[in-house]
Parts: sequence; C-alpha cells; structure tokens
Amino acid sequence: MSGPISLAEQACALFRATWRREPASLASSPGRVNLIGEHTDYNDGFVFPVAINRRTFVAMGASRDGRSGFVSTSRPDPVLADCPPWRRMEGDCWANYVAGVAAQFADRGERVPAFCASVASDLPTGAGLSSSAALEAATAAALSQLVAASFSITELATLCQKAEHEFAGVRCGIMDQMSSVAGGAIVLDCRTLTFERVQIPRELSLVILDSGIPRGLSATRYNERRGQCEEGVRLLKTRYPGTEALRDVTTEMLNIGRKNMSETVFRRCRHVVTENARVCAAAKAFAENDFRTVGKLLHESHVSMRDDYEISLPEIDLLAEIASSAPGCYGARLTGAGFGGAVVSLVDTCAADAFAEEVVEEYRAKTSKAGTAMRVVPDEGSRKEEPA
Ligand code: GLA
Repeated sequence: MSGPISLAEQACALFRATWRREPASLASSPGRVNLIGEHTDYNDGFVFPVAINRRTFVAMGASRDGRSGFVSTSRPDPVLADCPPWRRMEGDCWANYVAGVAAQFADRGERVPAFCASVASDLPTGAGLSSSAALEAATAAALSQLVAASFSITELATLCQKAEHEFAGVRCGIMDQMSSVAGGAIVLDCRTLTFERVQIPRELSLVILDSGIPRGLSATRYNERRGQCEEGVRLLKTRYPGTEALRDVTTEMLNIGRKNMSETVFRRCRHVVTENARVCAAAKAFAENDFRTVGKLLHESHVSMRDDYEISLPEIDLLAEIASSAPGCYGARLTGAGFGGAVVSLVDTCAADAFAEEVVEEYRAKTSKAGTAMRVVPDEGSRKEEPA
C-alpha cells in the first residue's frame, strides 16, 4: 500500500520529469506563524514567531546547457533564464525568490553555476505564513549543498532577506527568514539577532484561521509603513540624538516628540513602541504558564494593528472577534504583514477541534468568504532532505 505522495517525492518527481535527470540536492524549510510582535522587526524590535509544520521543498542540480531553470508543482511551466550572471526577472515572477538567493551567494564569493530547481510546498501563499521566506530558505539550504557553502543561521537568514529586498522589492524585516532557518518557537531580538527558544506546552494549540482574503498589493503599503517609522525616528532624533530605531523609544519619549509629527506617523510609532513591550510581556507570561495574560496581549496587539497601524480589514477584525469569544480561546490576532491573510489563535488543546469548526462556520455565515482553519505545531528549521 502506498500512502499519499510526500513533498520530497513531489519535488524530486517534478525535477526528473522536467530536467530528465536526478536532483543533486534536496532541502526543506518551514513557513511560520507570528504569535506576537508585528512590524517590529524592521524597527530593531522583538518578535515571537513559530516555525510550523507546513514546508517548502526545493530539489536542485547543476544545469547542463548553461541556462538556469525553475519549476514548481503549483506553476508547472518552467521559467528559463540566462543566469548567471544573476539578475532579477521581469514582473512578479515567483522564481525571483530563487534567483535572488543565488545572487546573494554569488555576492558572497560563492561560485554558483547555472542550475535547475523544482519546488513543492504545502504552504498556502498570500495567507501571511511566510511562503516566500520558506522558498528563499529552502533554496539557500539546497544551494549550500550544491556548491558546498557553509553559512551560519544568521548569515543564511540575512542573505535571504536581502534577496527579498533586491529581487522582490519588499523591504521586509528579518523575522520570517530567521524563523524559517532556525525553526521552533523563538523570541527574537531583531537588533542583535539573538534568540531564545520557547516550548509550546501540549495543552496549548495554535490554530491559524485564514480569512480567505489574499494579501493584495501589500508590498507598496508595507514599504509605506516602514517609511513612516523611519520618519518617526528622524523626527525623534532631533530631540533624542541617540535614537537609532523605534526600539530605542519609550512611550514617554514618543509623547514628548508627538508635537513634531503628523498624527499618522505618531500612531504608527505608537503601535511599534507598545508592540515591543507586548512581546516582552508575552515572553515573560509564557515562561510563567500564564496563558490568560498572553491572550490579553494578543488582543491588545490586534487592536493596535487595527487602530494605530491600520493594517487590518473588517473581515479580519470580525474573524479575530469570533475567535476570541469562542470557548477555550485565550486570544487571537491578525498575524503577518496584514491587509488580508490570517488570524492566529491560542486555544486549549481539548477545545481546539470544536473551536476550529465553529469559528470557521460562523465567519463563513457572516461574511460569505471561504475561511479555513489549520491546527499547526512547531517544526524544525531549514534542513537537508534525502532525495526520494
Ligand atoms: C512580513 C515581513 C516581516 C515582518 C512582518 C510584519 O511578514 O516579511 O519581516 O515585518 O511582515 O510583522
């Protein structure tokens, strides 16, 4: 009896069918759900992401004709490119995440030959679960094997982040790439890139509620939010010259600096300053098994994203509200960049199945959107896989 085809088998079978030979390397990396700490990473702040058991696999082998080629189970038409030299492909091409990582290897002095790659994943795209970071991290892991390069966790995460900046045009922070490469649940200091691992106890479940609204045109609005934070820092610097990032700002400093900034910039800054404090409080409460306090902080985080950072949508507010008031739920909030995507909720494990079903049913009835629920557990970071 054969079971369902694994992602490793899917990536390798696609590689063989497309490129007519065996892959030389195979690696996988997880998506992530961010428990708390949104839009704090590019402000040198704190985040609490959990790498999840939804992964992206990349199979790879050197090319035979000097051209590179990329193919994915979800987009079976191969993308062919005259690379190296590594350069960005026109438009919104998904293969830019792969080529972007290759370019970063080359920038660091690695000799990266033309190569072929195939991708298989069970991570939904556009749900705020870092499918792009998982693709970058899995590419970096497969490429490290292919060219025998060895990078540390932080080097890998940083080069993947740079690939996203330069080849996808999103000025993202470091959270997603660090989470995908390092794995597990971590509380990460985005200034020093040091992190502590956190155990999620069995009696707690993470339920991701996908609103069914994909994150549209988010790159522009994401970059705009980032610009507003930088504007806040620039204005605060005139009074507090030691301010390098919003990480260095307290509520008191912000209130004093308020008169020099627009109301919008003030509110963006207030979200980041209070969110950093919430991450630290949540990490402490977690260590004390005080999940009620964690839940309360999740709720406050959602309100701050909704009112101050303005990255939620009415449907997502509704989904978070339905989830928060369902039996067994400690708290729920929008997760990821926003403008669509998913809600993360922290639920008593005994109540999790009924919770998932009931929340989705109520959400669908009230919005006629195709919401879905996914129970996830923490998973390992980037790893080498055996070709299957
Ligand atoms: C996206 C980015 C991250 C982070 C989040 C918001 O996922 O890739 O760097 O900024 O949004 O917290």
